[in-house]
Amino acid sequence: MVLLTGSKKIKTAVFISGTGSNLKSLINFSKLKNSPISIKLIISNNDKAKGLIFAKRYKIKKKIFNFKRNILVDRKLILLLKRNNICLICLAGFMKILSKNFIKKFKGKILNIHPSLLPKYKGLNTHERALKNKDKYSGCTVHFVNSKLDSGKIILQKKVIIKKNDTSKTLAKRILMQEHKLYPKAILKIFNL
Ligand code: GAR
Repeated sequence: MVLLTGSKKIKTAVFISGTGSNLKSLINFSKLKNSPISIKLIISNNDKAKGLIFAKRYKIKKKIFNFKRNILVDRKLILLLKRNNICLICLAGFMKILSKNFIKKFKGKILNIHPSLLPKYKGLNTHERALKNKDKYSGCTVHFVNSKLDSGKIILQKKVIIKKNDTSKTLAKRILMQEHKLYPKAILKIFNL
């Protein structure tokens, strides 16, 4: 196994909109010796995102952007990421759609975690749709981001069995637990570790 010391780790930005439990699991992962990443920036569209507490707790720089003003945001955000030598972007519960220009600038360097077994259930309300369709299982996917919503190349997936008495809440909770393991595994996979 390759061990990467602090300065050699890949400078990573994590984008969040809410609770940030995936952010927390990525921070924990980044602190492991065999982790290829070091989280240098947390970006959010939402200044009330609970997950921003991890910025303070782990002394990671954070920045809030109003993603409605796309062109301006693009310029400022790209500049900030470049200035911080960010080479990997992890979307972790980030609920805004990135511009085509932004995605082009960081082609092959943006990952997303999605709470379904893509290509099934792109977009929102994935658990409700899986339950409504009486699916036997659902799960989560880590994939590269391209310009089409939840459609980039899949890196890893994890199946989760749907139980008879599952509600969208109970299913979301079990899938989220798997997400926390899957994201680090997917990162190790893309770096051949
Ligand atoms: C996660 O389940 C993630 O897969 C999902 O939001 C949740 C965020 O939880 N992302 C999407 O739906 C993206 N389209 P977290 O803030 O606790 O990591």
